[in-house]
Amino acid sequence: MTSVHIKEAAAYIQQNTDITPEIGLIMGSGLGVLGDYIENATVIQYHDIPHFPVSTVEGHAGELLIGSLSGRSVILMRGRFHMYEGYGPELTAFPVRVMKALGVQSLLVTNAAGGINLSFASGNLMLISDHLNLTGTNPLIGPNDNELGVRFPDMSEAYSKRLRAVALDIAKSQDITVQEGVYAGLLGPTYETPAEIRMLRTLGADAVGMSTVAEVIAARHSGIEVVGISCISNMASGILDQPLSHEEVMETTELVKSQFLGLVTALISK
Ligand code: HPA
Repeated sequence: MTSVHIKEAAAYIQQNTDITPEIGLIMGSGLGVLGDYIENATVIQYHDIPHFPVSTVEGHAGELLIGSLSGRSVILMRGRFHMYEGYGPELTAFPVRVMKALGVQSLLVTNAAGGINLSFASGNLMLISDHLNLTGTNPLIGPNDNELGVRFPDMSEAYSKRLRAVALDIAKSQDITVQEGVYAGLLGPTYETPAEIRMLRTLGADAVGMSTVAEVIAARHSGIEVVGISCISNMASGILDQPLSHEEVMETTELVKSQFLGLVTALISK
């Protein structure tokens, strides 16, 4: 992937819409419902966009929506790319670079995640304060494109303090309980073992998932401000005496939908 690929993908999208999106939205498993609230949405299938990967997971659609939400111009990814699907980190992060080329200045990433912090419960929302990139790789590996960003990007505020404070204020005013914590991003696709979860807790993780970190690294590299929300769809492996399943993840995200929508639509307007 080079800047030529990014420009070609962005050019195709621009041919299909007059809107210059300022906010990017990446929706995790079961959270793509936000797309239903976009007004005058232009819908573009991933498979029509030059160089765009195509997502292969059930519960993850494959389309971009561009339109207006809470009075803002947005571009929303319904369905994202995961490294466990076989995409390298660079391809996983490619849509973020396309968003940047289209004019996006801030990015909201959401995901479903397993709760590691014992004070969490399934169905909680967690504002991501920071992450642990435990995928063993990085989307910025390879020659650096100085047009996109610097060789050694600062990650000391990967998740914007300013936007986190705004999100907490909104949660308070809407009477929604929002946890805050560190998201550990792993490769997957297996859920973790109980021993891995104990290790992650020791390392300082509050939640665990299989997405987000590559996208956020690419966003920060290109100077996009990021806010992240995890839906704690299940308590992580070994905490409760029950197996984990993708069905449980989808069921829980369905249950928190209205809280999630309330928080996110208000956040976008601010
Ligand atoms: N582990 C990893 N990824 C996840 C989980 C989990 O428990 N729940 C949802 N995504």
